[in-house]
Amino acid sequence: DVRHLMDLKSLVRSIPDYPKPGIVFRDITTLIADPRGLRAAVDELIWPFIGEKIDHVAGIEARGFILGGAVAHELGLGFVPIRKKGKLPWKTIGKEYQLEYGVDTVEIHADAIGKGDRVLLIDDLIATGGTADAAIELIHESGGETVAAAFVVDLPFLKGAARLRDKGVSVHTLLEFE
Ligand code: PRP
Ligand code: HPA
Repeated sequence: DVRHLMDLKSLVRSIPDYPKPGIVFRDITTLIADPRGLRAAVDELIWPFIGEKIDHVAGIEARGFILGGAVAHELGLGFVPIRKKGKLPWKTIGKEYQLEYGVDTVEIHADAIGKGDRVLLIDDLIATGGTADAAIELIHESGGETVAAAFVVDLPFLKGAARLRDKGVSVHTLLEFE
C-alpha cells in the first residue's frame, strides 16, 4: 500500500553505474508500473495546484509525458509537449541546453502557448535543472509564464531546484536522493 512518500521512494529503482561508472541512475519505471505508485505520485504532484489559476500543463520528453499527461487530466487542463529536436511537426521554437557532455535542444510548437498563459511544467526528475531551465525559457519565449514546476524526484546535490527557484519559479518535488 502506498500511503506515504517513504513507500513511494521504495518504488524507485536505483541502478549503479548507469549510464556511466559512478552514476546511480534513479529509475521511475518501477514506480509508474505500480498501480498504487502511479496514482500516489500523480496525487502528490497535483495537490498544490488544485484551484490555482493555470492554463496549461507542459511536460518534457520522455518521462515527463507520462506524468504530465496524467497531471493535466487530473487538473482538467490540456497538455503541451516539449520535445527533443526534430520531433514536432508544426512550426517550433527551440532552446539549446548543456548536457554532461555536449549539448541538446528542446522544442515547443510556436503556437502552443498564448500570450500571458500560466503554465505548470512537469518532469519525472530534476538533476542539474538544465532541461527544465531550457523548457522554462521556451515557455517564456512563447509569451507564457512558468508559474510552477513539479518533479517526482529531486537530486538536491546537483542544485537544479535551487536554479529554478532563483529564476522565480515555484518548485514542488516529492522524493530526494543523495
Ligand atoms: C532526464 C530526466 C530529465 C533530465 C534531468 O531525461 O527525465 O528530463 O534528464 O536532467 P537535468 O536536470 O540535469 O537537465 P534525459 O535527458 O535522460 O532524456 P529522456 O527522458 O529522453 O531519456
Ligand atoms: N535518473 C533519470 N534521469 C536522470 C538521472 C537519473 O538518476 N540523472 C540525470 N537524469
